[in-house]
Amino acid sequence: MEKITALVLATAVVIAWIAPPARGEVRSFQWKVEYIYWAPDCVETVVIGINGQYPGPTIRATAGDTIRVELENGMSTEGLAIHWHGIRQIGTPFYDGVPFASQCPINPGETFTYEFVVDRPGTYFYHGHYGLQRSAGLYGSLIVDPVPSDAVPFTYDGELSIVLNDWWHRSIYSQETGLSQLGSAFRFVGEPQSLLIEGRGRYNCSLIPAAPSSPPLSGDVMSCNSSRPQCAMHALAVRPGLTYRLRIASVASLSSLNFLLEGHNMTLVEADGHYVTPVEISNLDIYSGETYSVLVTANQDPSRSYWAAVNVRGRRPATPTGLAILSYGDGSSSSAPPSTPSPQSPAWDDFAYSVAQARRVVSRPGFQIPLPERANVRLMLLSTQNRIDGKIKWAINNVSYVPRATPVIAAFQFNLTTAYDLAASPPRDFSRGYKIRNAPPNPSAIQGSGVYTFRHNDVVDVVLQNSNTLVPNNSEIHPWHLHGHDFWVLGYGSGIYRPHRHASTLNFVNPPMRNTVAVFPYGWTYLRFRADNPGVWAFHCHIESHFHMGMGVMFAEGVDRLPRIPAQALGCGYTKALFTAP
Ligand code: C2O
Ligand code: CU
Repeated sequence: MEKITALVLATAVVIAWIAPPARGEVRSFQWKVEYIYWAPDCVETVVIGINGQYPGPTIRATAGDTIRVELENGMSTEGLAIHWHGIRQIGTPFYDGVPFASQCPINPGETFTYEFVVDRPGTYFYHGHYGLQRSAGLYGSLIVDPVPSDAVPFTYDGELSIVLNDWWHRSIYSQETGLSQLGSAFRFVGEPQSLLIEGRGRYNCSLIPAAPSSPPLSGDVMSCNSSRPQCAMHALAVRPGLTYRLRIASVASLSSLNFLLEGHNMTLVEADGHYVTPVEISNLDIYSGETYSVLVTANQDPSRSYWAAVNVRGRRPATPTGLAILSYGDGSSSSAPPSTPSPQSPAWDDFAYSVAQARRVVSRPGFQIPLPERANVRLMLLSTQNRIDGKIKWAINNVSYVPRATPVIAAFQFNLTTAYDLAASPPRDFSRGYKIRNAPPNPSAIQGSGVYTFRHNDVVDVVLQNSNTLVPNNSEIHPWHLHGHDFWVLGYGSGIYRPHRHASTLNFVNPPMRNTVAVFPYGWTYLRFRADNPGVWAFHCHIESHFHMGMGVMFAEGVDRLPRIPAQALGCGYTKALFTAP
């Protein structure tokens, strides 16, 4: 009897969990995506803007709301798709915004309407997911508030937004061309020129030859003008004694970042839309694709201002600190830049520090989503850097991801089995001790669409295994992002993951749930998710150039229960044949 009650209760809880009540409002937006001239770090360049602005408009909604974005592609020379990063798209996998996975790219001149429910409160963002469009500035914030009756385990008096980014003066077309050159002609994107806070940075204009100041400026002349309002330093205004929730997100293209506030400690309370056990920190490592909330109390001398600063971590920095001003009061003298030197972050290569900080992020009691006890599928994903057909690529289990012309979701719905490539299992020598410290030539790596399939409700364990790049004694940080899901992060370690040695080190007690997680140099990261969201979901390194060079896979799950794909998401590749002219 008791058992039956418990079972009924458990079933009720599960149903409540998977079926968020659709109780919200519809929030509609009309956006036009266009190339615009903008000077994020005082250097004027072409940016991909929305409705004439950069960064794109902030979407603010309440859990349960429906977001409806009519998106017009006003760029005359390229396709478009926007991904809603951190939103799981339950029931709407075709609105996930990944070209050739969840939809066809939106052609120039076309309008596509995204419509999806934001089911859970948290700090999220959106960004272009076609080519390197995020690097060109196509992104913005997406903040979901809890419904008033939902418990929030902390209080605060105000909110501040901190979206972090790295910035290049070279166009994304030049960057992309460099990435696809043969052999030694390969040109990496290199270190960014600036770090931006809320889309603003400050390049040293004396490094750029003066441009003619009188209009019309000719197209190609770089002009830098530090008095442009577009690059006025961002100011965070606080009032003495009050506590603020800083919503921090990194949309960086390449850099791992470290954020700090001069003279102020921070309390970490949210990661990727999940409340975490509060942690006191003096600086925050943040990887591309991650979001955090920290609480900060304005408890310092209010007669002066303080730096908010961001520094590069994990790669030898060649970019000046990105700065904003934390000012007490409004508009008084305290909003002038501080006279103190810009604050420094831990040493760029202190990876032990980063791993230790990552391990301190654990779920918050009372807000844990129960971890499935065991997985029925385990996937080892070995990432390597390879040469394929003379080009430098990243490969996962020897397959370097390259999109094919038919959206994978449509390939499954319409049974177009030749439209995608199933992924391989790990290289044979992986289980026998692949040498992650010496880059093996890996001549067997190929390009493909790297699709892994799961049955509905499979519990999947993924071990992300890092290795050496083609450069001797070099291994990099990779922040991996999963679409359509959050996963439990069960652990991090160095070297090769070996079950008999490492399984006992995993955290089954209070693993955090996230949608993005770092894999550290020469290390492994272990995560678990439940394949309970029918769709085709990208799982990839969130470094823009790495994904572009193949560092990703596709997870196709529960494909026997895919919802009907709307016609607006189709029409490319083999799905052209689904439509005939009227
Ligand atoms: Cu924010 Cu597939 O990425
Ligand atoms: Cu990467």
